[in-house]
Amino acid sequence: MTTNATSPGPLVDTFGRRISYLRISVTDRCDFRCVYCMSEDMTFLPRKDVLSFEEIDAFASAFIARGTTKIRLTGGEPLVRRDIMTLVDRLGSHLGKGLDELTVTTNGSQLVRHARGLAAAGIRRINVSLDTLDHQRFATITRRGRLDDVLAGIDAAQQSDLAVKINMVAMRGVNDDEIEPMMHWAHGKGMGLTLIEGMPLGEVGIDRVDTYLPLRQLHEALSARYTLTRLDQRTGGPARYVHVSETGGTLGFITPMSHNFCESCNRVRLTATGQLFLCLGQDDQVNLRDAYRQDGFDGLNAALDHAMLIKPKGHDFVIDRAHPQPAVARHMSLTGG
Ligand code: 5AD
Ligand code: SF4
Repeated sequence: MTTNATSPGPLVDTFGRRISYLRISVTDRCDFRCVYCMSEDMTFLPRKDVLSFEEIDAFASAFIARGTTKIRLTGGEPLVRRDIMTLVDRLGSHLGKGLDELTVTTNGSQLVRHARGLAAAGIRRINVSLDTLDHQRFATITRRGRLDDVLAGIDAAQQSDLAVKINMVAMRGVNDDEIEPMMHWAHGKGMGLTLIEGMPLGEVGIDRVDTYLPLRQLHEALSARYTLTRLDQRTGGPARYVHVSETGGTLGFITPMSHNFCESCNRVRLTATGQLFLCLGQDDQVNLRDAYRQDGFDGLNAALDHAMLIKPKGHDFVIDRAHPQPAVARHMSLTGG
């Protein structure tokens, strides 16, 4: 394996965007099958192609050396990968040495087991995906999850001093009647709530046109009932946040459909098999696994240079009857959110 003689510079794309945020999908598998995320019969990546923890850690090191300060582990469901805590501990050892934040997006089903370990590895905040507080509805949306597991997981996370943010995909006619109750519940427990517009990735189990809920309109409707103060809170992600005076909590909006936030994009996404996707809504990608297996860190750095040249300006998601096809064929579970 070769090491780099010259130290390569920070990752900046052709639009001048500094890439400082790496999202790593450690597995595309999941113990749920959420209707807006997956089809009923998903084909997953072949296990033999999945990166080893050594490789993931090597990639993380290369990114950190080139200016990545934030890493998020995602999936599928990251906590269903075998021995995941071994990887979390390894990545946690980069904290304070170039890496400022390590975090996780999880469906919460395994948090009772893992919350303490996540905190011990240096993780301070996690995102938990939860779209409803109704048991029956939860079973319908996730097709196979149990709400009580997730609620117990959230409690375990809070007991381990992890700050929890709830991510809720807002769907018209599915869970829009729960947005306010979920806000009161989350804020009452000291958690933020972030609403997400459904994005057209892969063939899934709901009609995206019927269930599309433009969050811009929702924001306006909530403004009439609550005192919302815009926050400049920047977490390195695409969400916009408001403070809700009546609850004392923070409400976020991720609006890839009604507001294109690509101009400030600072992130790239690594799949479990080592493909680096450069935009959630486009197919442009670089094969980091082959580059690394062939030429070690030199190969990796050359591949990253190439990635910066081809990172697209942005996505062009459209959801309407004239566009029945997803923007990209792959599912969210391949790249994480
Ligand atoms: N559109 C929007 N959000 C999605 N998620 C999964 N699939 C989609 C989609 N098609 C969400 C999950 C989780 C995050 C990683 O992305 O609920 O909160
Ligand atoms: Fe699994 Fe998350 Fe997709 Fe649901 S949204 S199926 S929990 S990866």
